[in-house]
Amino acid sequence: MKEKILVTGGTGYIGSHTTVELINNGFEVVIIDNLSNSREDVLEGIKKITGTKPEFAKFDLCDTDQVENFFKKHQDIKAIIHFAASKAVGESVEKPLLYYRNNLQSLANILEMMGKYHIPNIAFSSSCTVYGQPEKLPVTEQSPILPAESPYGNTKQICEEILRDTLHSNDELNAISLRYFNPVGAHESAVIGELPLGIPNNLIPFITQTAAGMRKELSVFGHDYNTPDGTAVRDYIHVVDLAKAHVVAVERMINERQKAHYEVFNLGTGNGFTVLEVIKAFESSTGVKLNYKIVDRRAGDIEQVWADTTFANEELGWKAELDIRTMMASAWKWQQYLLENKEKYFD
Ligand code: UFG
Repeated sequence: MKEKILVTGGTGYIGSHTTVELINNGFEVVIIDNLSNSREDVLEGIKKITGTKPEFAKFDLCDTDQVENFFKKHQDIKAIIHFAASKAVGESVEKPLLYYRNNLQSLANILEMMGKYHIPNIAFSSSCTVYGQPEKLPVTEQSPILPAESPYGNTKQICEEILRDTLHSNDELNAISLRYFNPVGAHESAVIGELPLGIPNNLIPFITQTAAGMRKELSVFGHDYNTPDGTAVRDYIHVVDLAKAHVVAVERMINERQKAHYEVFNLGTGNGFTVLEVIKAFESSTGVKLNYKIVDRRAGDIEQVWADTTFANEELGWKAELDIRTMMASAWKWQQYLLENKEKYFD
């Protein structure tokens, strides 16, 4: 019998890639998603890659009645991977209550059901945003948590605290928080990837849309940072590597290999790249020249951050394998797929 994993936000960017890896590793996946930032036909993409279309339930995890109904019918779930959340930093500043409600209420509802129906394991999507601008680089899991820069970042910090406190009150439960650095790229098949919603905020979708001629030019935010070329440094990680780490985390909990009920892991490559280095990697791996200009810093951006991945490498036995060129090439292939299917994806 296949073990059943609930993936919330499973039609989203990281959720869909993780669903693929779970199915490829012999798990049965059931997805909950309200489709607020994704499309139902992602399920067809998952089927194209794996041969299996996961079971899908469309509802909002803040809807307590629907959550209760769902869990009543799915008491055999072995672990939950909780991706579903609002994730736009800028929007969270404009609509803080929306973010606090969506991100905190959904986790509280899930944890309540885990207690009630004895579902023991949860992996949580956290973010390196909890470290702010670290004093010491690279950042380890013990690096200080700094006051959040945005309501979005604050929800990630509070959710980690909710998990810690809930586990403290119920020792049947296990959790792993995975702190992502900058997830980029797409599945090599290019049938799933990051879906654009309006003008992209993030670097890689902006690069691929500029290269595709959808945007006039890329703005590089800031050139006076204390970094090798003056532009900001991030730890970009291929979304497929990230997805694989979730499978490992789930197996660790199911097979009771955890060292503590609550664990936290950094998920990055351990390598930092400047914005200009990313642009160069894109140009050299795709052969496409990018039109860009250097402008002022973007408010709220930190200067540099990259992960110390020692703990994840040693404890999880997982390591990111795909390099920056592969990330860029796969993002570009996905962009081309989107363009070929323009009428479906762009208004
Ligand atoms: N950048 C540009 N031009 C752009 C977009 C981005 O120069 O058009 C730069 C940014 O200034 C930054 C880097 O590219 O230096 C990466 O920016 P992203 O917006 O892609 O990613 P961030 O590091 O700002 O944010 C990401 C996630 C957030 C998360 C945060 C944690 O998008 O959800 O990491 O640090 F909170």
